[in-house]
Amino acid sequence: MSLPLMILCFLFLEQLFLAGLSQASPPSLSRLAPALYIFGDSRADTGVCEDPTTLSNVTYDPYGFDFCIGPTGRFTNGFTISDFLEIMLGLPITIHYSPKMESDETLTIGYSYASAYSGILPETGSAFGETSSLEKQLTMFNSTLRNNLLKAFNGTAELSAHLSQSFFVVFIGTNDYAYNYLQSSNYNTSKICNQDNFSSHLVIELEKQLKTLYELGARKMVVFEIGPLGCYPAILKSHKPETKCVDEINQMVSTFNLKLAHMVKTLRSMQRDATIIVAKTYSLIFDMVERPSSYGFSRIRVACCLVGHDGTGRCIQDENPCPNRNTSLFWDDYHLTEAANSVIAAKCFHGSGVCTPNIYTTLSSGQPGRRNPCFIYLLLFAVMIAGVSYF
Ligand SMILES: *[C@@H]1O[C@H](CO)[C@@H](O)[C@H](O)[C@H]1NC(C)=O
Ligand SMILES: *[C@@H]1O[C@H](CO)[C@@H](O)[C@H](O)[C@H]1NC(C)=O
Ligand SMILES: *[C@@H]1O[C@H](CO)[C@@H](O)[C@H](O)[C@H]1NC(C)=O
Ligand SMILES: *[C@@H]1O[C@H](CO)[C@@H](O)[C@H](O)[C@H]1NC(C)=O
Ligand SMILES: *[C@@H]1O[C@H](CO)[C@@H](O)[C@H](O)[C@H]1NC(C)=O
Ligand SMILES: *[C@@H]1O[C@H](CO)[C@@H](O)[C@H](O)[C@H]1NC(C)=O
Repeated sequence: MSLPLMILCFLFLEQLFLAGLSQASPPSLSRLAPALYIFGDSRADTGVCEDPTTLSNVTYDPYGFDFCIGPTGRFTNGFTISDFLEIMLGLPITIHYSPKMESDETLTIGYSYASAYSGILPETGSAFGETSSLEKQLTMFNSTLRNNLLKAFNGTAELSAHLSQSFFVVFIGTNDYAYNYLQSSNYNTSKICNQDNFSSHLVIELEKQLKTLYELGARKMVVFEIGPLGCYPAILKSHKPETKCVDEINQMVSTFNLKLAHMVKTLRSMQRDATIIVAKTYSLIFDMVERPSSYGFSRIRVACCLVGHDGTGRCIQDENPCPNRNTSLFWDDYHLTEAANSVIAAKCFHGSGVCTPNIYTTLSSGQPGRRNPCFIYLLLFAVMIAGVSYF
């Protein structure tokens, strides 16, 4: 195991132990945000699944095959996008919020509320058992504020300041298609709505939820697009297209993404003290499918692990995954590998074209005394040029 990985594992384990203690962890100078709050589905889920229903449980091998402590409920072989964002923010790995948590166990570095099979709509994923829709996740966040954080922060003013500097991730919507609209045998949405009004319905609901998040105190957030679902192994298996991807499904989710961008733009003009970023992951993942070798991928149409036939797209328990996870785009039929998650997180965090402005710029601009590292390089460069021209 490499040294950085060992340090991460240590931080993770430390966090699990700290979870039992009441102390707010001391602020670290290298942190870009005091906390990260995560909402969404299995793509954002940082594990520790509390749900007793077996279908949403991936706490088994080969999940977490490349994760320091093995399967934790993460729907990938290693780190999720949320994990990578936490690391880049300088935060320890966020743990999953449990309603059973007592107020003296409060953590002030954030929580994850993300839950597998969930969607924007409450009925999404319900064929697999009880899910925690985005609305339910926000209700849980509201009770965290009231029951836990208010005490930890000694009053509303301090808590508001904490929340306004914290970062929020919203990663939802894929399941409203995968485990709802596209499954007409289990859900009736495709009979009631055409594609166009279904996407409008989703975006209107999501807008309500984002407004709630704002009302609860969030000021800096990133909302992820739906990826090119028509290129995912689950859809390729069920539709068997002649082309590389199922274009009509990609068209469907692109319509959603377009409306999402428009809605967020409107929201930004209404909430001027908030920064809401749309993570344009559709084009990025689509590019990975189109030009896999430029990202080091050679396996893009099939999952890395062996997938079962229960309709969830999950890996079969105890079957070995593909030998080289780093050259595979998909881990199971609906989720990306750590290698792909790492590219997405890095581009959104300090790249361009995916998150505009990127997360680093968003978080460092509001912090007095924090200089963009580019500034240092420019300075060194200037000194060097000056030196060269002097001699
Ligand atoms: C999840 O599945 C694993 C393996 O089947 C099992 O050991 C574990 O108890 C399950 N966890 C929950 C919460 O159901
Ligand atoms: C909480 O705030 C009150 C004033 O608002 C102050 O008197 C008290 O000492 C604070 N407690 C802590 C633990 O900071
Ligand atoms: C569609 O399904 C939902 C529950 O999933 C149900 O409440 C609703 O009545 C159904 N609508 C129609 C028109 O069948
Ligand atoms: C969706 O649009 C179709 C066709 O325009 C219309 O018949 C239907 O009533 C609409 N459904 C909803 C839920 O708005
Ligand atoms: C949060 O919960 C409180 C108490 O249950 C409620 O009054 C308030 O409306 C909720 N806030 C939001 C934004 O949902
Ligand atoms: C796979 O990628 C991870 C980063 O995601 C890296 O740490 C590891 O060394 C890579 N493994 C191989 C065999 O290239």
